[in-house]
Amino acid sequence: MKILLSGGAGYLGSVLSGYLLEENHQVTVVDNFLYESNTLASYCNNKNFKIINKDCRDLDGLEREIKNSDIIIPLAALVGAPLCKDRKEDAESINYKHNLKLFKKISKNQIVLMPTTNSAYGHGGESEIFTEDSELKPISLYAKHKVEVEKELTNLNNFISLRLATVFGMSPRMRLDLLVNNFVYRAINDKFIVLFEGNFKRNYIHVRDVARAFVYCINNYKKMKNQIFNLGLEDANLSKKELCEKIKKYINFFYHEDNFQKDEDQRNYIVSNKKILDTGYNPKFSLDDGIKELIEGYKGINIKSFRNY
Ligand SMILES: NC(=O)c1ccc[n+]([C@@H]2O[C@H](COP(=O)([O-])OP(=O)(O)OC[C@H]3O[C@@H](n4cnc5c(N)ncnc54)[C@H](O)[C@@H]3O)[C@@H](O)[C@H]2O)c1
Repeated sequence: MKILLSGGAGYLGSVLSGYLLEENHQVTVVDNFLYESNTLASYCNNKNFKIINKDCRDLDGLEREIKNSDIIIPLAALVGAPLCKDRKEDAESINYKHNLKLFKKISKNQIVLMPTTNSAYGHGGESEIFTEDSELKPISLYAKHKVEVEKELTNLNNFISLRLATVFGMSPRMRLDLLVNNFVYRAINDKFIVLFEGNFKRNYIHVRDVARAFVYCINNYKKMKNQIFNLGLEDANLSKKELCEKIKKYINFFYHEDNFQKDEDQRNYIVSNKKILDTGYNPKFSLDDGIKELIEGYKGINIKSFRNY
């Protein structure tokens, strides 16, 4: 398949590119390289791989690539509630308007695989379990845009939406702002974490399992088409406090709860992933696997540049 992957240089995209190439797809990444620029280095010798360094909003400049693609995976975005709050206009034009314009250019036979987010569920009740049919109550601008885009997506003829849990694990483009990645990093480097809203629960998924899920959607497209799926670990609906306890199994650190701050998007939910599991998809990497992997990976990442020791 010819696959157009916007945002392919990012945390998810730089892992997903490898998985798609292994399946012998032709992968074209469109990215304007907001962050590190060498995250795709290991794929450049693959004859099926191409990079276009461009803003994804330049849809006229990408006309040919869009037309020639069998599958489009629009990952490009300003990702996360704090960043979107800080850069409202860009968030609106990249995360929202650009996707709507892109969908207008998609023909009937082309497939869109869309990463959305389970922060769309907002703030749940004590034992409320969110399924794909639950009412969406996004709180942050980031989550609101994702919900609006998913609504438009469902008007297309050929789509799958994956509502991703909070992703964790090592990637060529590392994100230390993601909850698990952040806590493990701080446990190792600071030896303490001050928790706010420690009882707020979230669901989690390994970055490689997200990549595997996109590949799974392609290989099982007929049975999955035109549907929305939650994608997270069924045994990992954990509060921040429970996450700290898990990390404590591997790292000696101290955490303390103090509600000195509020989460930007007040995310607090338990999510059911039964729908995608029932299709036969199975995640391969547990939260424990991810924590151990991060401990290994962080041996090479530090912020010692501005200290003597
Ligand atoms: N990581 C998660 O936990 C998570 C959870 C749910 C959904 N998602 C979604 O998955 C997608 C990828 O997220 P990520 O974690 O890889 O984020 P990321 O920030 O690592 O990657 C985003 C990529 O998009 C590129 N980009 C941004 N604006 C662009 C523009 N105007 N033109 C071209 N490229 C542009 C950036 O350079 C970057 O490479 C996003 O759509 C995000 O909303 C991620």
